[in-house]
Amino acid sequence: MVSEKIPKKIVVLGTGGTIAGTASNAADNIGYIAAQVGVAQLLAEVPGMQAVLAGCSLVSEQLAQVDSKDMSFTVWQALAQRVSQHLALDDVQAVLITHGTDTLEETAYFLHAALPPALLNAKPVVLTCAMRPASSLSPDGPQNLLDAVAVALTPGAHGVVAVCAGTVHGALEVQKNHTYKPDAFSSGDAGPLGYLEEAAVRLLRNWPLALIEQAHDVIESIAKSVQWPRVEIVMNYAGGSAAVVDALLQPLPGVPPLRGLVVAATGNGTLHIELEAALRRAQQVGVRVVRATRCANGRVLAAAHAEFAHSNGLSPVKARVALMLALMDKC
Ligand code: SIN
Repeated sequence: MVSEKIPKKIVVLGTGGTIAGTASNAADNIGYIAAQVGVAQLLAEVPGMQAVLAGCSLVSEQLAQVDSKDMSFTVWQALAQRVSQHLALDDVQAVLITHGTDTLEETAYFLHAALPPALLNAKPVVLTCAMRPASSLSPDGPQNLLDAVAVALTPGAHGVVAVCAGTVHGALEVQKNHTYKPDAFSSGDAGPLGYLEEAAVRLLRNWPLALIEQAHDVIESIAKSVQWPRVEIVMNYAGGSAAVVDALLQPLPGVPPLRGLVVAATGNGTLHIELEAALRRAQQVGVRVVRATRCANGRVLAAAHAEFAHSNGLSPVKARVALMLALMDKC
């Protein structure tokens, strides 16, 4: 029997960001409005795209059009559902997401933690972005899109990755670490997954594997969650106190009760004595406390402080996502 090869496609979900931003002056790379240009137009304007696609088709959907500082649970919910629906189809090779740089790392981690492992270990979900608006004299979006497509088509690629400035980062490690430069992301101690060279990936580490603890159906919980568990982030600093944590524990009309706290501790998880006492009180009344570090590199070492859970190497913003997902089942 002759097996018919199914023609493949890449689905691109647009969510906004600077990559879709415009300014009135092409020389202005900061005074722009994000999320103005539709994803279909962005794709149509990339030179050399057909050559990189090599017969694979590109279809786009405008899932949202937001500045990612305003990223919402509603968009995340829609993203998780659409990405998993598309990945489950035989003719979909990969899903690509255009996103603002400001919260890209949170969305990347959210998808890594929420999508079904069997899909993530088979196909790639590629987030890409830009630091300069589409109207710029020298925009970085078109090259990033081209590179993201090249990653999506790389044989064996799988998992949630981010592509920016010729570099491939894994969802677990990727972190925005520059406010302005086009090469704004880092993978910290772990280093990037690879680099792009003329539409070819030079892989340095293995493609990411889905989290093993994702046995239960997180997508189902997300679909059912009208209200996500409220988890806030507090930080340790010189002159810190109990005031912020104590205020967060107070009930407020129209605000859901606090379910979790991530503390961006100093160094290897150290806390001001008064903040530590406040976190202990929070834990005693049933608020889950997770200790991360405000350091850009390194992790809170497990043995150092047993009283509060540690973030398992996740940055404070990613630890918050992990804690929300963990609490979601217990709503
Ligand atoms: C955003 O995050 O949506 C705006 C900033 C950017 O994309 O660089």
